[in-house]
Amino acid sequence: MASSSAWLVLLMGIGLSGALDLNLQNSSSKLLTVLNTSAPVQELLYHIDVWRNEAAAVAQDNPTSSNLESVIRSEVGGDWERGRLVLQLANQARTLELKQAIYTALWKELQQTKQIYDPLKILEFYDQLAVHTDVPLQLMDHIYRAFISRSAQLLEAPFHTASRLATFPLVNSLVNRLTFSTLDYLRDILEVLYDAVLALETPLSVVQRLGNLTASLRQLAQANLQLLSREELKRGNPEVQKALQSNIRNLLSQPGFEKEVAKSLQSEIYAHLPKDEQLLYTARKVCIRNVTEENSYIYECPQTYLICSNARDPKKAAYFIQRGHSNDSRPQFAFYSAFWRSRYILMEPATAIASNATNSITKNVYSRPNINWWRVVYGNGGIAFYDAATENSVLCGGDPLHWDGEEHHVYTRHASEFSAHQAECTWSLEDCSDAA
Ligand SMILES: *[C@@H]1O[C@H](CO)[C@@H](O)[C@H](O)[C@H]1NC(C)=O
Ligand SMILES: *[C@@H]1O[C@H](CO)[C@@H](O)[C@H](O)[C@H]1NC(C)=O
Ligand SMILES: *[C@@H]1O[C@H](CO)[C@@H](O)[C@H](O)[C@H]1NC(C)=O
Ligand SMILES: *[C@@H]1O[C@H](CO)[C@@H](O)[C@H](O)[C@H]1NC(C)=O
Ligand SMILES: *[C@@H]1O[C@H](CO)[C@@H](O)[C@H](O)[C@H]1NC(C)=O
Ligand SMILES: *[C@@H]1O[C@H](CO)[C@@H](O)[C@H](O)[C@H]1NC(C)=O
Repeated sequence: MASSSAWLVLLMGIGLSGALDLNLQNSSSKLLTVLNTSAPVQELLYHIDVWRNEAAAVAQDNPTSSNLESVIRSEVGGDWERGRLVLQLANQARTLELKQAIYTALWKELQQTKQIYDPLKILEFYDQLAVHTDVPLQLMDHIYRAFISRSAQLLEAPFHTASRLATFPLVNSLVNRLTFSTLDYLRDILEVLYDAVLALETPLSVVQRLGNLTASLRQLAQANLQLLSREELKRGNPEVQKALQSNIRNLLSQPGFEKEVAKSLQSEIYAHLPKDEQLLYTARKVCIRNVTEENSYIYECPQTYLICSNARDPKKAAYFIQRGHSNDSRPQFAFYSAFWRSRYILMEPATAIASNATNSITKNVYSRPNINWWRVVYGNGGIAFYDAATENSVLCGGDPLHWDGEEHHVYTRHASEFSAHQAECTWSLEDCSDAA
């Protein structure tokens, strides 16, 4: 009876604070009722103690808050919905001490429950706390770090599997949830994640698993850049470099890349590509030249509308780059010249290339007003241009047998002949953005 009269005293003595727009009416909780008031902490504690019929625990350092904490925790009792209500009531509490006791108690209670294994639950709590202005920074920081390390732990799963086909729904939903948060969260998670996985797995395997991660393009851009900057990957293993470039090219091949990824991240990504490839994304205009011959650039022939190898003249050789995607979403490029009246470098479909020819050239590369897409392939210290429509032809030049006086025509070969004629079919790009 003592306790119920004490409650009466409490409730009547301090009066109820202003209307709370909370759906707590049917809760029978005494604690919620107490927290719903603006009573001073000592008074609250006194009445709580009476209610619980306990002698006040007189701990040395911080009896007040530890007492409050334990009361609040026993109230929440692992029921996270109740925790949510208690957190809302924190707004109502008059003293900072009481508020902070609520925050701390809820965090401790969250850790006791299995919820702590789910980074999304921690993030939710963190976000809820973040709208309160009076949560101690230290506590916020602690919760944030717990969120980061639990997230990293979850994200490790795909990096420790031997299969590139396995799926990870929990990882996907975490990553998906993170698309609604600043990239900083992801960056912090990746730092912890890479520490762990690079200690246990080979760099090659880590790069490959990252290549299979399902995430938004900006997340993948961030993740690849962060991996690229790791010391563990700077030991020059060519396999690893190849795998990293393959990841990056996959990113670039996504039609949304230029739209979704911040410009600053884009330039960081481009910076990791070989020079020729970089220019395709960063230069306004390029000149295409023979990879070994310093003075051999392609543009319209002196007499005809064919394309020739000509002497260096940036004005004539500068081509604007147009980027596109074929319907299987791979990148393709078109080159048009303002100097040559907005004409493109165009390959006409080759008529009847003998199916098993081993040494066939076709002079079918023109300066024409229609757009024409080229597929660019990197290697041999330069790049090769295949016609994007069929990928059956590759752009070559430099063999005087196929010239005609002043007209040093370029030509195409069947794609299968590329390896036998690499010098003839490998080109280099120069940045000609500044050419008039
Ligand atoms: C309170 O009771 C009403 C009606 O009985 C019910 O719809 C509501 O969900 C209850 N609220 C809580 C928090 O239990
Ligand atoms: C909290 O206070 C409001 C307004 O005084 C009251 O309507 C509500 O029932 C109280 N909630 C609890 C859980 O006591
Ligand atoms: C993983 O990546 C490899 C290489 O890009 C690819 O061949 C494979 O299909 C991918 N697996 C899945 C499940 O996406
Ligand atoms: C791309 O589209 C063309 C016609 O628009 C079609 O013939 C071709 O099969 C498509 N290719 C793919 C990979 O979908
Ligand atoms: C194709 O190659 C085979 C063997 O290399 C040869 O016998 C045949 O005559 C060739 N056909 C043509 C159309 O050149
Ligand atoms: C580049 O120049 C060399 C030497 O003249 C020649 O053999 C080669 O075919 C040329 N390649 C191209 C792509 O023009």
